[in-house]
Amino acid sequence: MRIDKILANSGYGTRSQVKDFLRSGRVTINGEAILDPGYSVFDKDIPLICLDGSPIVAGTHLYFCLNKPDGYVTAMTDDHLPCVGDLIPDHLKTKKLAPVGRLDYHTTGVLLITNDGDLSHKLTSPKWHKEKVYLVTYEGEALTEKEVECFSKGITLHEKGREPEKLKPAELILLAPGQCRLVLTEGKTHQVKRMLASQGRSVIALHRESIGSLCLHDGQKPGEMYALSAEEIALLKE
Ligand code: URA
Repeated sequence: MRIDKILANSGYGTRSQVKDFLRSGRVTINGEAILDPGYSVFDKDIPLICLDGSPIVAGTHLYFCLNKPDGYVTAMTDDHLPCVGDLIPDHLKTKKLAPVGRLDYHTTGVLLITNDGDLSHKLTSPKWHKEKVYLVTYEGEALTEKEVECFSKGITLHEKGREPEKLKPAELILLAPGQCRLVLTEGKTHQVKRMLASQGRSVIALHRESIGSLCLHDGQKPGEMYALSAEEIALLKE
């Protein structure tokens, strides 16, 4: 297959953007710059293609880690509000990407965006136990060792108009008055807010730091996303 087609199909840019990468010598096979966009690559050589020195992840399944900004709905489209779909570059708009799970409108941080339906399904299934780490800023009295112990045993939510809901054990790490880290292995709707509310606190800011081994890259600003490396994808699928 033509090298420009492999790169474009793998989400690295439009055909004309990848032609520019090639012409400027950023793409190599076995260390040798490939300048001709029409260069034909044998299947066995696809794993040797590098962009800016890093191996590309070739294929139609694409994986990105977005730093979700405050004030965005976790959806590809929304009739009224800004949504994460607005942050997807135009050349990826036809790739059927979708966010995995949901962060609330004001929640910031790690959001996986992919078109790998199988992985998305697994990561959101209750059978998978990838740890999700949240940095929580809350209002109310400082949480104590009592709540740490309670959460570690798995609390039951008793909410008005709902059946009691037993939650899995969660790790609560006290950081400072009004700030804690919460490590969950499940992803129920508004779970962090509901857990804090059950203890009489209210969340005022929420940031997801990681999903399993996936975290933001140094300096990754809100609204920016990066393509996962082959290693990052493999770790997520473990
Ligand atoms: N828990 C919440 O309450 N909100 C989020 O956005 C994520 C987890």
